[in-house]
Amino acid sequence: SKLEMFVDELPDMPRIHGYEVVHGVPKSKSLKIGMYKKKWKFHRDLPPTPVFAYGVTKHKATVPGPTIEALHGVNTYVTWQNHLPQKHILPWDPTIPTARPHTNKGIPTVVHLHGGIHAPQSDGNSNAWFTSGFNQTGPLWTQKTYHYPNNQHPGNLWYHDHAMGLTRVNLLAGLIGSYIIRHPLIEGPLRLPHGSTFDRPLIVFDRSFRKDGSIYMNSTGNNPTIHPQWQPEYFGDAIIVNGKAWPRMTVRRRKYRFRIINASNARFFRFFFTNGLRFTHVACDSSYIEEPVTTSAFLVGPSEITDIVVDFSRSKNDTVILANNANYPYPDGDAVDESNSKVIKFFILPDPEVDTSRVPKKLMKYPDADLSSVSRTRYIAMYEYTTDADEPTHLYLNAKPYEAPATETPKVGSTEVWYVINLTDDNHPLHIHLGLFKVLDQTELLKPEEFKACMDKYNDAIKCHVDKHARGKKQVVPAHERGWKNVYKMMPQFVTKIVVRFSYIHTNASYGFDATAEPGYVYHCHILDHEDNEMMRPLKVIK
Ligand code: C2O
Ligand code: CU
Repeated sequence: SKLEMFVDELPDMPRIHGYEVVHGVPKSKSLKIGMYKKKWKFHRDLPPTPVFAYGVTKHKATVPGPTIEALHGVNTYVTWQNHLPQKHILPWDPTIPTARPHTNKGIPTVVHLHGGIHAPQSDGNSNAWFTSGFNQTGPLWTQKTYHYPNNQHPGNLWYHDHAMGLTRVNLLAGLIGSYIIRHPLIEGPLRLPHGSTFDRPLIVFDRSFRKDGSIYMNSTGNNPTIHPQWQPEYFGDAIIVNGKAWPRMTVRRRKYRFRIINASNARFFRFFFTNGLRFTHVACDSSYIEEPVTTSAFLVGPSEITDIVVDFSRSKNDTVILANNANYPYPDGDAVDESNSKVIKFFILPDPEVDTSRVPKKLMKYPDADLSSVSRTRYIAMYEYTTDADEPTHLYLNAKPYEAPATETPKVGSTEVWYVINLTDDNHPLHIHLGLFKVLDQTELLKPEEFKACMDKYNDAIKCHVDKHARGKKQVVPAHERGWKNVYKMMPQFVTKIVVRFSYIHTNASYGFDATAEPGYVYHCHILDHEDNEMMRPLKVIK
């Protein structure tokens, strides 16, 4: 018995403000947000599913969690509180480096605000985890309350769990939510669709369910003798948006803004409308782009954010389906089928009002990357290790485990060029904490095998290989992804050249906090099953 599509109305997650207004003046706010085990209805005909959910109370907790609305320049403080039980709802693997692997005294969690520019103590380091009631804490735990200064440019962020070796299961269980930094003074005049009816976050992910409603995750690894449970990519057959499987949304014939977050563990989406209706991109990850870009399809890797305007008055029909045709794993895996190719169905009603929103010709202009000020060039090799039977066992960056001392140590305020060399067959969305980057170029490697011998040699040997072999075809960076990003899709067998900035992009100013403090930041592949085993490295910013 298949679940019927398009029967549940798309929810808007509860919105909570990360500031308060006192006599007309916005002031800092302290929030308490808990993590609770509860049941969540993903579909009308599916029994309630045990989940882990964020919320201000257990009763109010949702999957995804509440949308936090922050204001540029106003501090938000959040005390993230773990109220989870002793036992996880999903199978996890103690053979990969995992927070507290050998006891059963609560579930380690730690929250990362993805895209946020804040001090390392508030960054949710994987080893800064804590269990229920802060009873146990990880080796790098320092504080209960996180500080988000919101001094960066306005944009879309999201918060999610980041506990060592448990990120993939904690997110699968439901620990995700969106976070918007608004700057009314500079965003208001753009007159994009606004207000909670016409400006909507869409958090999209895939899940599989058992008949009893519980989340299904295979509990046998591909190499059970090495990793009893770990699998290289989780894929689910149901597509969930804002906590409902294949929802429906009733809209008016007018413009809507959708802030789309791909919160899947491993699934890429290439979104398109079944009747050819087009998208107008206004922002990408946490940053506005300079001018709007129109597309009829676009690819979003895990953790990427696309911010689009859709004008339903241009729709030829009164219903239209947002669909997906990205293979999984991307790019050379299986083709989508009936279930995972459908996302949302829109039912378009006449608009009783005049739509005064618009998409302006110019959005936001930020300083470009200054290549003359690049102080350091780095080479980052991605490699997957396998058994003799060619089954993956783990993935490393620069042939190093996460535990090896930091080798990426940019100076605060500096600009660096990174060449990311993907020696695997899959596309990996690389995410850098704190830094923002532009993608300059993607060039095919002519002899990827030759890299294997030198990928742990770091700069010189690898540089000469890049010079010699990155000479194949070029992959064009889509126009809407040429702005400042915090994650990008590293094509297999290609070298991707990015320029990374470790200062505010909108002001060039230095951070108002000590980015060099312990426990430092990280960068990693955002396929969560890869990140956990162990496609993640420390990022230590220095003076
Ligand atoms: Cu979205 Cu290090 O994470
Ligand atoms: Cu990966």
